[in-house]
Amino acid sequence: MSTRTLIRGGLVITAADETHADVLIEDGRIAAIAAHGSTVAQGWTADRVIDATDRYVIPGGVDAHTHMELPFGGTFASDTFETGTRAAAWGGTTTIVDFAVQSQGQPLRAGLDAWYAKADGQCAIDYGFHMILSDVNEGSLKEMDRLVEEGITSFKLFMAYPGVFYSDDGQILRAMQRAESNGGLIMMHAENGIAIDVLVEQALARGERDPRYHGEVRKALLEAEATHRAIQLARVAGAPLYVVHVSAEEALAELATARDKGLPVFGETCPQYLFLSTDNLAEPDFEGAKYVCSTPLRPKEHQAALWRGLRTNDLQVVSTDHCPFCFTGQKELGRGDFSKIPNGLPGVENRMDLLHQAVVDGHITRRRWIEIACATPARMFGLYPKKGTLAPGADADVVIYDPHAEQTVSAETHHMNVDYSAYEGKRLTGQVETVLSRGELVIEQRKFTGRAGHGGYVPRATCQYLG
Ligand code: URP
Ligand code: ZN
Ligand code: ZN
Repeated sequence: MSTRTLIRGGLVITAADETHADVLIEDGRIAAIAAHGSTVAQGWTADRVIDATDRYVIPGGVDAHTHMELPFGGTFASDTFETGTRAAAWGGTTTIVDFAVQSQGQPLRAGLDAWYAKADGQCAIDYGFHMILSDVNEGSLKEMDRLVEEGITSFKLFMAYPGVFYSDDGQILRAMQRAESNGGLIMMHAENGIAIDVLVEQALARGERDPRYHGEVRKALLEAEATHRAIQLARVAGAPLYVVHVSAEEALAELATARDKGLPVFGETCPQYLFLSTDNLAEPDFEGAKYVCSTPLRPKEHQAALWRGLRTNDLQVVSTDHCPFCFTGQKELGRGDFSKIPNGLPGVENRMDLLHQAVVDGHITRRRWIEIACATPARMFGLYPKKGTLAPGADADVVIYDPHAEQTVSAETHHMNVDYSAYEGKRLTGQVETVLSRGELVIEQRKFTGRAGHGGYVPRATCQYLG
């Protein structure tokens, strides 16, 4: 039997509009939106009415970059699909796009099937997959076509991590050419990994072993150089390019130059690069290990450039690159050798709130918040308008957001399966109150009411973003 839900009295915010409106939900989808107090809205009846007075009503967040259970550095990211998607729901994210991994010497199919199996029946919210290519060869290039047809329409390549995920320029060019012909989108981890490995070896030989050296060897110039090279290879292939986790001002400048030429080049940054810095990596007693990720955190001065890039649309998306490793037992693998610290930070639960804080602080507008966190990631990865907006026919993935609530971020209260928070003690204005996923309440007045298995796999169309 279908349930009709009415969300009444809130400020409905999408990437395009802000309106005081009521939202009617039926059969898991948005049935209609009408001005609050209008004759149409007054005529609506429902089984369940949610009062959103003084609240924002926004689309559920779309986090296009997560790594649940990623094998890395001899261990696994500590969130499973169950714990990670539950935490995402708490933070107002209703769709994730996670990265299935091709192991070297294996077909893409094997990696993808392993990721389907990990996620199946576990998720509290909907999910899709990108595919990490770690072994570009004739076989995997052919498989890309099949995956695009199946709804895996984006492929991550690494210019970093030699011997693990790394592809050389020839492999990158071939994968880009394939994407040009099958409509896939290449996502690039742009860091010159070969040069970085030389600097790692030299740093360790000098006895530089603390986490802060992770930031020093992974130089901004090596992110910029790789970004430049990736852009030129994409131009040669005639393919669009999406650069993930941009952290350096110099890399952003490469994207801006390409975009000024009208090239289809896009960029993502993450909350950690907007709110954290090398000061965190330098925290004493190995605490800096909590902030080891790649690309690395940068000196504070880079933050202003990233905020500007988000305002000017030289950066289009904020994803989390959620890849948590516990401090105890996991980050500790790199005590005495920063190069052995598993790379990655937790954040899937914090993104919507941190970006709301950016609205409060005046970095971005409310509509830009929704654009970079919901609408554009949905468009970029072929999920729009099912996801990323509030409009008749869209999935009823809806967040009731209290913009005045005060909260302090802490590992004591978060829901991610990790023993620290990268934002411990940070005071934020605004908090997720209630979340619906396809019309079902998954968070109700800050209580988890969802269930593992509610979330379903969502095949994706090819990139719909033209901006
Ligand atoms: O440090 C990070 N980013 N870990 C996850 C893997 C990646 O490169 O995205
Ligand atoms: Zn990466
Ligand atoms: Zn990542």
